[in-house]
Amino acid sequence: MNSTFSLDDAIRKIPDFPKPGILFYDITGILVNPEAFRFCIDRMVEIYKDRKIDAIAAIESRGFIFAAPFAERMGIPLILIRKKGKLPGKTWACKYALEYGTAEIEVHQTDVKSGERILVMDDLIATGGTLNAAKNVLEQGGAEVAGFFGVVGLPFLNYQKVLGDAEVTTLIEYQ
Ligand code: PRP
Ligand code: MG
Repeated sequence: MNSTFSLDDAIRKIPDFPKPGILFYDITGILVNPEAFRFCIDRMVEIYKDRKIDAIAAIESRGFIFAAPFAERMGIPLILIRKKGKLPGKTWACKYALEYGTAEIEVHQTDVKSGERILVMDDLIATGGTLNAAKNVLEQGGAEVAGFFGVVGLPFLNYQKVLGDAEVTTLIEYQ
């Protein structure tokens, strides 16, 4: 890897989106930059390769993008946590507050195995509401959250408070 590489350079910052006063951290700049995307997946594998994780749960939609290559590299199952109404089977569901509005997520009951330790992954952690709802649906199935991962973290929105004493790992944080 190029020693001058900076993940920050690959993340676009869009002022006043989706509303005035919000600075939007856009990960599409990572995806169009193969070096940046590979950097993220390599770092994720490095962090978790020796950890006891039975499966990865990824959040629709942007979380899927990072979780899929990671799960394949780790050789462990990828569980999709989707927005309401997308999964055909019986689900565990949870409503939650978003940074902008409310939402509901679901997971297939058959995908969550009781007693498993599951890493929950998303592209960005803002308020932590989405990851906390993901924890809720996995716990409904008897699984345990092994930790939370986000490529980008915005700790000034206090996600650690929402996520309690669970381990939260990010590749880059903005204040
Ligand atoms: C964004 C982001 C995270 C979540 C973070 O997703 O991708 O999933 O919000 O916010 P929180 O920590 O405050 O819950 P969004 O719901 O906008 O949907 P998308 O991934 O489908 O674009
Ligand atoms: Mg998302």
